[in-house]
Amino acid sequence: MKVAVLGAAGGIGQALSLLLKNSLPAGSELSLYDVAPVVPGVAVDLSHIPTAVAVKGFGKDDLDAALSGCDVVLIPAGMPRKPGMDRADLFNVNASIIQTLAEGIVKNCPKAMVGVITNPVNGTVPIVAEVFKKAGTYDPARVFGVTTLDVIRAETFVAELKGLDVSQVKVPVIGGHSGTTILPLLSQVQGATFSDEEIAALTTRIQNAGTEVVEAKAGGGSATLSMGAAAARFCLSLVKGLQGEDVIEYAYVEGNGEDAQFFAQPVRLGKNGVEELLSYGELSAFEQKAKDDMLATLNKDIQEGVDFMNK
Ligand code: NAI
Repeated sequence: MKVAVLGAAGGIGQALSLLLKNSLPAGSELSLYDVAPVVPGVAVDLSHIPTAVAVKGFGKDDLDAALSGCDVVLIPAGMPRKPGMDRADLFNVNASIIQTLAEGIVKNCPKAMVGVITNPVNGTVPIVAEVFKKAGTYDPARVFGVTTLDVIRAETFVAELKGLDVSQVKVPVIGGHSGTTILPLLSQVQGATFSDEEIAALTTRIQNAGTEVVEAKAGGGSATLSMGAAAARFCLSLVKGLQGEDVIEYAYVEGNGEDAQFFAQPVRLGKNGVEELLSYGELSAFEQKAKDDMLATLNKDIQEGVDFMNK
């Protein structure tokens, strides 16, 4: 497996690369790309860890070499939030970064699985899709917005609140990846019941968990370590799928358009990326209303990405 991390010198990029160096299958290659001059050093640093994963760093003029022959590309490149910003404030800076990187993928590894981490995910994933469409090589089964952080946060908070073993807790999270578009389906959690007040408070906490980190870091960035863990989990699921295993993850994908053109939902991963779009099941009245209320925002975010590429 050849896996590229674009934005590998950043907070998420370094944490993610470390986890992948320690967990990709033996014989894999890890290709680290960043415009920051420290990236070759990050690669040398990681290369001293004794695992059978080869690591190579690529500087700003070497995007083609970094991407050549990649099976999986993860993109945490771009600006993170500062206190007082919401994810939409990042669009103007990050949209063109994503466009450039997606054009590199189209040119060098058009069949790769692409996991987009860069915010605002609701709008950056449509940009990647549009870049592929313009090149005539778009396969919606291979383009993912990584929403795994919402899932692991939800699992952690539910386990804490209910005193459960976190390794056994599963919480579906659907919709998008910002504010109210993040919709945890607490009605589907097995082995726990919640009062209406708990559901309201937990839903809000899961939706605002990123802001909790941004404020705690007080200007020093947003979630990097938990995001690194989330992206590593998602990447390993993509790799397992490519190796022929059936794996289910929640991700922001272009599905059947029932709710919105792009929507985070459960998918069965396999050799071709999304092998099957799975149903997210029945919603409670609270969840149904939350979903109906958030769709206008999600659609607006998606349109912003589409419009960016068609202006
Ligand atoms: P960071 O500032 O620590 O790292 C970003 C890296 O991207 C830097 O090393 C920078 O040099 C690099 N970069 C900038 N332009 C580039 C280009 N054209 N090509 C390659 N690399 C480039 O930021 P951090 O904290 O790692 O966050 C990265 C992104 O991930 C942000 O947009 C942030 O909002 C997003 N994020 C997404 C989450 C999710 O759940 N999907 C969770 C947390 C953050």
